[in-house]
Amino acid sequence: MTRAKENAALAALDFVEDGMTLGLGSGSTAELFIEHLGERVAGGLKVQGVPTSEATAACARENGVPLIDIDRVSKIHLTIDGADEVDPMFTLIKGGGACLLREKIVAFASERMIVIVDDRKLVEQLGKFPLPVEVDPFGVALTAEQIYDALQRSGCKNGQTVLRQNADGTGPLITDGGHYIVDCKCEIIPAPGETAHMLERIPGVMEHGLFIDLSGIVIVGEEDHARVMELKRE
Ligand code: A5P
Repeated sequence: MTRAKENAALAALDFVEDGMTLGLGSGSTAELFIEHLGERVAGGLKVQGVPTSEATAACARENGVPLIDIDRVSKIHLTIDGADEVDPMFTLIKGGGACLLREKIVAFASERMIVIVDDRKLVEQLGKFPLPVEVDPFGVALTAEQIYDALQRSGCKNGQTVLRQNADGTGPLITDGGHYIVDCKCEIIPAPGETAHMLERIPGVMEHGLFIDLSGIVIVGEEDHARVMELKRE
């Protein structure tokens, strides 16, 4: 599977031009992209990256990719990021790596977003991968109930919520921005726009992992090649 991710990451390099400010996504596929970007930088390519997580910033430093603080950029030309699920309209579920708020801030501010995934991430309908929702720790139990309600009302098959924990069992996972992640076992999300809208009305919700209309290009890596899929929006 790493080979498939790597092929997607390599194909994304074709879209990078000298002088670009790049949004650098998070996760294993985005890190493969950063590793190869570092090789191009070593070869003379001039770019600067806006990282979407502390882990991505560390990866960029290790690979010699120059970084710039998001508050110092006037334009992000292109963001390259992974995803957990991609549907036929290129609506995404993101946040498996707990970076969804920063990922969405950067993607939304970018002129263009390219998603790099292996072919297992393509689905007909979103929801099998639990939908991550980033929430403020204050009142998290009430917020989780409101999330469950919103998911039910927007037609999700399930909506059971689980507060994400640290892998070492030391308590709830805390995001780079100081928030919690509530994972929602939706099973099927029949109307992502409606679900997104309802989640956005909940005060404790910082951001949800549905990325809608943010990307027109998805690069799908397979074992021996990558395919570039483009969606033309009116
Ligand atoms: C990070 O929060 C996520 O949105 C990642 O983009 C997503 O989980 C994909 O990760 P992999 O590239 O590791 O599969």
